[in-house]
Amino acid sequence: MANGVLTDKRSSLIDPDIEKKIDDLMAKMTIEEKVGQMNQYTSTWDVTGPMPDEGDTKDRYQKVAEGKVGSMLNILGAQATYEAQKIAVENSRLGIPLIFGYDVIHGYKTMFPIPIADASSWDMEVVKKGCAIAAKEASAAGVHWTFAPMMDIARDARWGRIMEGAGEDPFLGARVAEARVQGFQGYSLCDLDTIAATAKHFSGYGFVIAGLDYNTTELNQNTLFNTVLPPFKAAVEAGVATVMNAFNDYNGIPVTGNEFLQRDILKKDWNFDGFIVSDWNTIGEMPIHQYAKDLKDAAFKAAKAGTDMDMESRGYEYHLGDLVRSGKIEESVVNDAVRRILRVKFLLGLFDDPYKYCSEEREKANINTEEHKVISRDAAKRSIVLLKNETSLLPLSKNIPSLAVIGSLADDKDTPLGSWRGQALENSAVSLLEGIRSAVGSSSDVRFEKGYNLASGKREFTQELKFEGIDDTSGFDAATEAASKSNVVVVALGEECFQSGEGRSQTSINLKGKQLELLKKLHSVNPNIVVVLMNGRPVAEPWLYENIPSILETWHLGSEAGNAIADVLFGDYNPSGKLPVSIPRNLGQVPIYYNHNQTGRPFGYPNDADMVFWSHYTDSDKTPQYYFGHGLSYTSFKYSDLCIESPTMNMSDTINVSVRVKNTGALAGEEVIQFYINDKYSSTIRPVKELKGFQKVHFEVGEEKLITFTIDWQTLAFYGSDQEFKAEPGEFDIMIGGNSQDLLKTELELLDS
Ligand code: NOJ
Repeated sequence: MANGVLTDKRSSLIDPDIEKKIDDLMAKMTIEEKVGQMNQYTSTWDVTGPMPDEGDTKDRYQKVAEGKVGSMLNILGAQATYEAQKIAVENSRLGIPLIFGYDVIHGYKTMFPIPIADASSWDMEVVKKGCAIAAKEASAAGVHWTFAPMMDIARDARWGRIMEGAGEDPFLGARVAEARVQGFQGYSLCDLDTIAATAKHFSGYGFVIAGLDYNTTELNQNTLFNTVLPPFKAAVEAGVATVMNAFNDYNGIPVTGNEFLQRDILKKDWNFDGFIVSDWNTIGEMPIHQYAKDLKDAAFKAAKAGTDMDMESRGYEYHLGDLVRSGKIEESVVNDAVRRILRVKFLLGLFDDPYKYCSEEREKANINTEEHKVISRDAAKRSIVLLKNETSLLPLSKNIPSLAVIGSLADDKDTPLGSWRGQALENSAVSLLEGIRSAVGSSSDVRFEKGYNLASGKREFTQELKFEGIDDTSGFDAATEAASKSNVVVVALGEECFQSGEGRSQTSINLKGKQLELLKKLHSVNPNIVVVLMNGRPVAEPWLYENIPSILETWHLGSEAGNAIADVLFGDYNPSGKLPVSIPRNLGQVPIYYNHNQTGRPFGYPNDADMVFWSHYTDSDKTPQYYFGHGLSYTSFKYSDLCIESPTMNMSDTINVSVRVKNTGALAGEEVIQFYINDKYSSTIRPVKELKGFQKVHFEVGEEKLITFTIDWQTLAFYGSDQEFKAEPGEFDIMIGGNSQDLLKTELELLDS
C-alpha cells in the first residue's frame, strides 16, 4: 500500500468468451425480452422505498415468467431466491436468470460498524474484511448484488445519510470506496462468497441543499470533478460491477437523465463496462421534478442518458418497447444496456448455475457465525475515535471499585446495530453495559441507571420516530446518586439509530431531549466522566466537549459494539481511529470541512482582526470543534525530521517525502500518519489542504520509524476548468502529521519540464 492506495486492482469486466455468449443470447431476444432485462421489481421481504400501487407479489412472478423482469430487489433467503429463480429459469422463454439485489450496507446479519464508523478506522484491510464477511453472509442467503458502497462525499451533518459514507474527503473516500468494492467483489464475482457491488449514488447526492434528503443540489463543476467524482472513479478502477444513480439533479438535470454524467464521464471517459441501475423510482420522479412530461418521456430521457436498469418505476416496462418501435430510441441504446446487464449475470456465474447461491446448508453454516462476530468486534474497536482524554482517566482499571454506567443508550441492544441494518435481528447487539460487565473483575461494583429517554416508537426503518417522553427527568435522581457514589461515571449519549439513515434529515445536530441536562448534573457531583458517544452524524455540543475529560466517538458499531467499546475503555485495545469528518461547534457552521477553498479574506485580513472585514462569525469561532483526521491514543507520537528528497521536481519525476515518527508514550499503539498538500496558486482555486496519502502504522513503546510517501505529478494534479486532470508548475506546501492541523511543513516546486 503506497500513500494508502490499495494496489491489487481488479481486471476489467470484459471477457471475450462471455461477450460471445452474450451475442448469441441477444440474437434470440425480442425487444420485449430485452426491455425485460432492464426492469427491476421489488419484493416485500424488506421495504426500502415507497411501495408501488400494485403490491401483489404474485403478479410480479407472473411478469418474471413472461420474461418482463431482469432483476428483483429485497428478496431474501436461499429458499425464496431459489423459488423466484426457478420461475425465471424454467418458465420464461429464454430462461435468463434473475439477479437479486439488496442493501447490504454494513453487514447482512452480523452487523459491522456503520460506514462512517469503519471509515474512522482509516484501516483499509478492516474495511475490506467487513465487506467480505457481509458478502459471504448475503451470498449465502441468495443475494447476488449489494447496493453498496455509498461513496457520496458528505459535509452536512443534518443529512441522515452521512452515516452511510466515508465522510468529507475525496481521497479518503476514494480509498474506502475501492476497499469496499474489493471486499464485496473479492477477486472474482463468480466465487460463491462474493457479490457484485454498486458505486452509489452517482452523483452529487451528498450535496442536497440544507442536508434535506431528496432535495435538489447546488454543485459546481470544480466540486463535482475534484470532490464528488474521485471515489466513483476509484470504484470503477477497482472493477465495480454496477453504479446506481440518484434522486438529485446536477446542473438542473436529474442525474438519472444526465447524459453528461452517465454517458460522457462514466461510460466513455472511464470505460465503465458494468451497468447503471436507477435509484428507487428515480425515472418515475423525473416528471415530478418537472423535467419530463410524463413517465414515457422520463423513460426516454433516462434510457438516452444511459440508465440501464429501472428500479421500481415501470417506465421501461410500459414504454421502452414502444419508444424503440416508433424509432424515438435506437435499438442500439437498449442493446447496450442489456449487454451490460447480461455481462454482470455471466460474471456472477448465473448462467452456469442459476441456483448456485441458493443453498440452505450454506445459509445455515455461513450466517452470524462466531468467527464473524470476532471479526466484527475487531473492526468495531479499530473504528473508535478517542476525542479527548485530558486527565488520562482512560484506560480504566478492570478492578475499579465502583463504576456508574448511565444512559438509556448504555443498555440499548438495538441502536448499535445502526441504520441500514440488513437482516440483523432486533436487539441482537452487545450493549455497552453488557460489554462493561463482562470486562470488569468480580470485585468491581457496576451500577446502571437509565437517566434519560431517547426517541421511541416502532423501531423500523420505514417509520418516523416518536420523540414524546424525551423530556422526562424522572431518572435523574437515581442517576446522580449512582454517579456520586462511584469512582468513575461512564455516560452513553447520542442518537437512536433511526435518527440517521435514509429519509432522516434533522434541523438540529445536538443531543436530543434531556441528555445534556443530565450530563451537567452528573458532572456537578462527579467530574470523573467518560462520555461514550453513539451517533450516526457528528454531534455539536460544545459544553460536553469542553467540560468532559474523556470522550469516545463510537458511532454505531454493530453487533459487538459493547465488547469493542469495553476493549477500549479498559485498555485491551489502544484506540487508533481518526475522524473522517469535522465535528462542528454548532449547526450554524454547517457545512464545515477542512479542505475548503481559500477565501480572499482569511484570518485577520488585511491586518486587523478587531475590524470586521474578514471571513468569520461574530458569535462563534469559525474552526470546528474537532478537525478532520483528529483522534488520540493512550500513547503519544512525536513527529520530526520532515525531509523531502528534492525541493524541485519535473513532471516525470517521482520523489519521496519522509518523516520520523516515534512512540513516546508508555503503551504500544497505532498511528494514522497523514500527508497533505496545498497548491499555492493555480488556474482554479484549490483547497487550503488536501489529503494525499495516509498510512496506519503500529509502534511498540519507544519505537521510531521512518515513514515515506511518494509524490508524482498525479499527487499534485487536479481537474481544471477544462475538465482535464493535470498538474500545474508552481509551488506546493507538503505537510505530514497525525491530523489535518498539527502538521510539519516543507515546500516543493513543480517545474515546467
Ligand atoms: C433508495 C436508496 O437511496 C438506495 O440507496 C437504495 O439502494 C435503494 N433505495 C434500494 O433499497
